[in-house]
Amino acid sequence: MYAEQHRRSLDDPNGFWAEAAEAIDWVKEPTVVLDDSNPPFYRWFSDGELNTCFNALDRHVAEGRAEQVALIYDSPVTDTVERITYAELLDRVARFAGGLRSLGVDKGDRVILYMPMIPEAVVAMLACARLGAIHSVVFGGFAPNELAIRIDDARPKVIVAGSCGIEVDRVIEYKPLLDSALEIASHQPDRCVIYQRPQAIATMVQGRDVDWDELADAADPADCVTVKATDPLYILYTSGTTAIPKGVVRDNGGHAVALRWSLPNIFNVEPGDIYWAASDVGWVVGHSYIVYAPLLTGCTTVLYEGKPVGTPDPGAFWRVISDHDVSSLFCAPTAFRAIKREDPQGEYVHNYDLSSLRSLFMAGERLDPDTYQWASDLLGVPVIDHWWQTESGWPIVANCLGIEPMTVKPGSATKPVPGYDVRILNGAGDPVGVGEEGLVAVKLPLPPGTLPTLWQDDDRFVDSYLSTFPGYYLSGDGGYIDADGYVSIMGRVDDVINVAGHRLSTGAMEAVLADHSDVAECAVIGIADELKGQVPLGFVVLNAGVERNGAEIQSELVQMVRDQIGAVASLKRVLVIKRLPKTRSGKILRKVMRSIVAGEQYQVPSTIDDPVILDEIEDSVQVLSASE
Ligand code: COA
Ligand code: AMP
Repeated sequence: MYAEQHRRSLDDPNGFWAEAAEAIDWVKEPTVVLDDSNPPFYRWFSDGELNTCFNALDRHVAEGRAEQVALIYDSPVTDTVERITYAELLDRVARFAGGLRSLGVDKGDRVILYMPMIPEAVVAMLACARLGAIHSVVFGGFAPNELAIRIDDARPKVIVAGSCGIEVDRVIEYKPLLDSALEIASHQPDRCVIYQRPQAIATMVQGRDVDWDELADAADPADCVTVKATDPLYILYTSGTTAIPKGVVRDNGGHAVALRWSLPNIFNVEPGDIYWAASDVGWVVGHSYIVYAPLLTGCTTVLYEGKPVGTPDPGAFWRVISDHDVSSLFCAPTAFRAIKREDPQGEYVHNYDLSSLRSLFMAGERLDPDTYQWASDLLGVPVIDHWWQTESGWPIVANCLGIEPMTVKPGSATKPVPGYDVRILNGAGDPVGVGEEGLVAVKLPLPPGTLPTLWQDDDRFVDSYLSTFPGYYLSGDGGYIDADGYVSIMGRVDDVINVAGHRLSTGAMEAVLADHSDVAECAVIGIADELKGQVPLGFVVLNAGVERNGAEIQSELVQMVRDQIGAVASLKRVLVIKRLPKTRSGKILRKVMRSIVAGEQYQVPSTIDDPVILDEIEDSVQVLSASE
């Protein structure tokens, strides 16, 4: 039962996780479970040795799943469906790993992947894992500058890229973006491996670029390289409050144990099930629930290169579920809002047989009660909100369907998952009362699979998450726990925003706006959006004497953010104002700005240096609303 399991995971973490670790095939069984010798740096299974790719592929082939489909590639944008068995996937991965090795990639080397949603993205991730190399996938929607920042931090030996991505009906050429990133970056990889898609054949740089097929065809298959449980499997950059993203590190051992445990226990998904996470491999959901958890479990995973709407219609998700007999779907609430907007009555559902579907899991942003109700009425299966982050790698709060399904309270992600001791603290680090909103924290140690540190930056890891309240991991989210122990997550308390399930930093956007030669200062805040949950809104103050047309500057600013961060930032509106509201010590009052834009009551802070400016912001926001 849930309460008992949760209690045991906290009272006896060693026993609890040692048992979970039995589901993993170790080269050297760990004798240490929780290594708490160097707090606040906790490590799991520190003397264990394994290979993650072996656990995801080889062992299943050896144990009778060779002919089971491991991956279904469903791509409405290229009109392709491909079913790849475990044996075939292993062959492709071993071959590509051999190719990477021939380029000098070894244990501990970094490999950046800039890939669309094609099987080669999964092959490249697993090939790195096979060699003990550390992959770092960069989401295809990020612009060259963001890619360059990640290249300079991870310092990859090799970069693997697809020649293009396809956004509904638009071909986005990735190779020119990669070339520009390499012009910006100071670190240069030895080689770039390019997977040529027929939709856009990339021009190769002689001596540096290598063709994927030629490399894999010429390579000898590589065997699994044994790594320590604590060796990094991947780095995934995520938005923090500054313009420099955080390189979240994931280890091999704890990750394999936690993800293998999570699929049956949280998602109620068993070996052999067909499981679909409709995300992108560039995000943590893609890492954990398109690639690693389903393959570690011996499931069939669906890799979908399409959107919830427009590829070709709002019945796209139902088509995939019925074509492939999907038993559990995971997606962001924004995807359902997009479907609902185009098909409010849910008519398209009636064209498909959805009898295989047992549950729908939603995360990435708050599941608002309206979307919950709509999805629940439409599909007639449990709709499960669950909360987690890139940092955790797997759910922190959920309704653990595989342990004990609990009553759903719309607006709440239900209860802390075993392994997580979730607390709500006030600004002083003290626990708040039942039902009172505060900062969502997790008492240390975090369970296996969560971030052990930030890439080569232990200090930033401690500063960002652990130093505010010693003994606790601070999530950056606000929320409350009710009298029944249900946790509700209300949104970020920092300058991170969530746009269509994509985590973005307003600080990064501010850094771009501030670079415009006519801009004296600026602020970017997140505002509510019916489809995307939140979108950014920029405010700029122009330099004295600038006489150019404000509209022209605004469109330049929008374009700059698109070019430097990526279209995915979705910054479409920038307001020119005379001054920013600030405290007397010069701190920008973003919270007040957010309240004004949201039309909420707010208190004028006593520390404000000039309250009149708030009226001006109210006026410009009214003009903005009237123009919509
Ligand atoms: N490569 C290149 N460009 C990309 C991209 C990629 N991988 N992903 C998104 N973009 C572009 C889009 O084409 C769009 O460009 P545009 O401004 O020129 O139209 C822009 O980035 C914004 O994309 P998005 O936020 O996805 O908006 P959208 O209007 O295209 O689609 C949704 C809206 C709701 C359908 C879509 O955001 C969605 O499916 N979201 C789910 C997100 C998700 O899975 N998150 C993971 C957590 S589970
Ligand atoms: P990411 O690291 O990209 O997965 O984004 C994590 C952030 O998304 C969290 O810190 C939350 O702000 C938000 N988030 C994710 N899942 C949920 C959820 N179920 N409810 C509310 N917010 C969520």
